[in-house]
Amino acid sequence: MAEQHQDVGTANGMNGKVAVVTGSGRGIGREIALQLVKQGVSVVINDVGVSLDGKGEDSGPAMELVREIEAMGGKAVASTASVAEWESARSIIALATDTFGRLDYVVNNAGILRDKIFHQMSPEDYEAVIKVHLMGSFYVSRAAAEIFRKQESGAFVHMSSTSGLIGSIGQANYASAKMGIVGLSRSLSLEMARFNVRSNCIAPSAFSRMIESVPGATPEQQAANLEMRRARTRPEQIAPVAVYLLGDDAKDISGQIIGVRGNELYLYSQPRPMRILQNSEGWTMDRLREQVGEGWKKSFVPLERTRDVFPWQAQ
Ligand SMILES: NC(=O)c1ccc[n+]([C@@H]2O[C@H](COP(=O)([O-])OP(=O)(O)OC[C@H]3O[C@@H](n4cnc5c(N)ncnc54)[C@H](O)[C@@H]3O)[C@@H](O)[C@H]2O)c1
Repeated sequence: MAEQHQDVGTANGMNGKVAVVTGSGRGIGREIALQLVKQGVSVVINDVGVSLDGKGEDSGPAMELVREIEAMGGKAVASTASVAEWESARSIIALATDTFGRLDYVVNNAGILRDKIFHQMSPEDYEAVIKVHLMGSFYVSRAAAEIFRKQESGAFVHMSSTSGLIGSIGQANYASAKMGIVGLSRSLSLEMARFNVRSNCIAPSAFSRMIESVPGATPEQQAANLEMRRARTRPEQIAPVAVYLLGDDAKDISGQIIGVRGNELYLYSQPRPMRILQNSEGWTMDRLREQVGEGWKKSFVPLERTRDVFPWQAQ
């Protein structure tokens, strides 16, 4: 979409830096790469160019975006390597240092979907999604961590999803990967803080081919729903938040999960004990029935889906 992009202002300390954005040939990653370039960042545009379910390969999206960035006067290089294999993921990071001589930011954004109702989900559907999202985020981050540790600086942004944080139907593979990414980011933020390295997650909601695949009730409702979401939740609304979290303006922000949907932002809670019980005599069925089943009843997290938690349209 060639909308008029709003000026998002200048981020501190980004000019001359180098970023890898995975899956940036299309959708959200593409907008993040473009907005980084506008901040003076050189970017590795990594995209293997697969179909939504992860099949086929096409160097077109990555190459085209590099040409577009060069035409704008920016610096970019294309990588069509997959994030889903260790060696190939390392080659994406190596391309950044070989081409631009340094690496400062990593955005783990590449993704595929293989939605299936759980009792029909095959091991292949589960593994393929875990490989790209979770293993891919690990491989790319692990390769970058070596550089970040030595230079004592660096920032990660990883794409999580409300599908994992809250819940959705038919996405057990994707939800598992996206919650895994939260754990990965949290661990990175704790372990790498002493090297001045930060890590945060974004849970985005933006119209892209991923959203197009979500079914509506009737074809008319689906069309209307998609049109409304296309207008109100756009990838370029996610990008400033990713840019901000990478830059020095967010130097004190790490280990967080920020939701972005249209012009709305959310800071997500992270699991901590909500209720605590101790019984010196141990737990019997009667005590559990009374104190957990009844006593905690009002505190249990309901079986809600994302749409139940966000019943309003993005503003
Ligand atoms: N669009 C949303 O509303 C939404 C919601 C929640 C989370 N997300 C997450 O945001 C990220 C971007 O989503 P999008 O909507 O822009 O999707 P998209 O399908 O438009 O873009 C994803 C890109 O990743 C690339 N890719 C897939 N497998 C790859 C691999 N192995 N190596 C390198 N590149 C690969 C694809 O070719 C594609 O261009 C994903 O991680 C997605 O799960 C998106």
